[in-house]
Amino acid sequence: MKLAVIGTGYVGLVTGTCFAETGNQVTCVDIDERKVEKLNNGIIPIYEPGLDVLFNRNTAEGRLKFTTNLAEGIEGAEVIFLALPTPPGEDGSADLKYILKVADDLGPLLKQYAVVVDKSTVPVGTAEKVRNMISKGAQVDFDVVSNPEFLREGVAVEDFMKPDRVVIGTQSEKAKTVMNKLYAPLVRQGNPVIFMDERSAEMTKYAANAFLAVKISFMNEIANLCEKVGANVDDIRRGIGTDSRIGKRFLFAGIGYGGSCFPKDVQALAKTAQDNAYDFKILKSVMDVNAQQKSKLLPLIKDHFDGNLKGKTIAIWGLAFKPYTDDIREAPALENIRALLSEGAKVTVYDPEAMENVRNLLGNQITYAHTSYAALDDADALVIMTEWPLFRTPDFNKMNLLLKNKVIFDGRNVYELDQMKEVGYTYYSIGRETVMPEVHQSA
Ligand SMILES: NC(=O)c1ccc[n+]([C@@H]2O[C@H](COP(=O)([O-])OP(=O)(O)OC[C@H]3O[C@@H](n4cnc5c(N)ncnc54)[C@H](O)[C@@H]3O)[C@@H](O)[C@H]2O)c1
Repeated sequence: MKLAVIGTGYVGLVTGTCFAETGNQVTCVDIDERKVEKLNNGIIPIYEPGLDVLFNRNTAEGRLKFTTNLAEGIEGAEVIFLALPTPPGEDGSADLKYILKVADDLGPLLKQYAVVVDKSTVPVGTAEKVRNMISKGAQVDFDVVSNPEFLREGVAVEDFMKPDRVVIGTQSEKAKTVMNKLYAPLVRQGNPVIFMDERSAEMTKYAANAFLAVKISFMNEIANLCEKVGANVDDIRRGIGTDSRIGKRFLFAGIGYGGSCFPKDVQALAKTAQDNAYDFKILKSVMDVNAQQKSKLLPLIKDHFDGNLKGKTIAIWGLAFKPYTDDIREAPALENIRALLSEGAKVTVYDPEAMENVRNLLGNQITYAHTSYAALDDADALVIMTEWPLFRTPDFNKMNLLLKNKVIFDGRNVYELDQMKEVGYTYYSIGRETVMPEVHQSA
């Protein structure tokens, strides 16, 4: 099939590349000229494991192309995906200006029947708005389908090529046939393609993300209570995660969720509830808990240094909102860095993939280390913000030579408590006892 993908970010680029991999002819369109130039020169502007192999193969074989020209991009396309940003507007609702602008532009450009697919996360009723907008300029028949994307950054290619399920909202038999044909190679193991109406498909995406955010915030509250009653949240996680009704995933306590999806989607769903005069209490609590959780470590760090961080150097491991991505949107690390700077601390950071994005944002307000160990040089403490596997088994002897004090504030519970006792660190983590080095008294 001939496809167009409008918006070539994390979702659009993965969608375009993966559909090229299943034999389709794909043109990706983006207004960002620099991004398109890079892509045309074989440079992938984001970090996403496994994407390079597919990207290289499909660009080399001519199935995957990039342009800034919408008319050229959609020429002959049977399916046109909209993978555009839906950032939060001032009132918390999803801002549809990118989607509606492209829908407006698309109308007069359509030359034959096409299925226009909302892949962006959009509030209930958006498919109708897109349909109305395209109708204003279209001379040909078309369908608008809601096909929310569930890929996770960091494992996006795998998620896309082997989705747990595909949700498609449409009432058009013609569009159903096209979408079934397109997704068939990705669901050969029998994972379902679930058809429903457009509104239910739009709501399904928000319900999924909000539910996962609830799970995270629930465990964070359990962790906070564990600290007060002297229990260990990791044991609780193992104890409840083995219950098949609960499941093992999304039960890790930490310094809150970030990223480009959960914060904005929970907020947008709360706004949908408010607009429909429904008091969605759980969502309000989830947002409160997460905001509180993100700033949980700073008071501990301050207390440790007797309330004064002026002139202290804090090393930070991990900037991305989660491992295996360079995405720093709403990353807890950013908020914490800004808070540390406002307390007068100096900050040195290391992340395997996200340093450039942070440099573009914070410039020379902080120091960027070339390796995880270099970040520790002469630092007063280490703070862990992202659980990259690299940080899990460091050489503590090497760390001891670099850090001024053996103290770690771990926002992701990367280490076992016994291990920290053994290496003699003061170790603060989430929902577990604080480890203090044993004081050896001389006889
Ligand atoms: N990132 C994720 O993990 C993820 C997962 C599932 C769903 N989503 C949803 O998918 C959508 C896209 O997310 P993303 O992370 O890929 O965003 P992104 O910001 O990485 O990419 C969006 C792209 O659209 C381009 N764009 C903006 N206006 C355009 C226009 N008029 N014409 C062509 N291109 C234009 C931008 O330049 C950018 O490259 C959002 O609604 C998001 O909520 C994201």
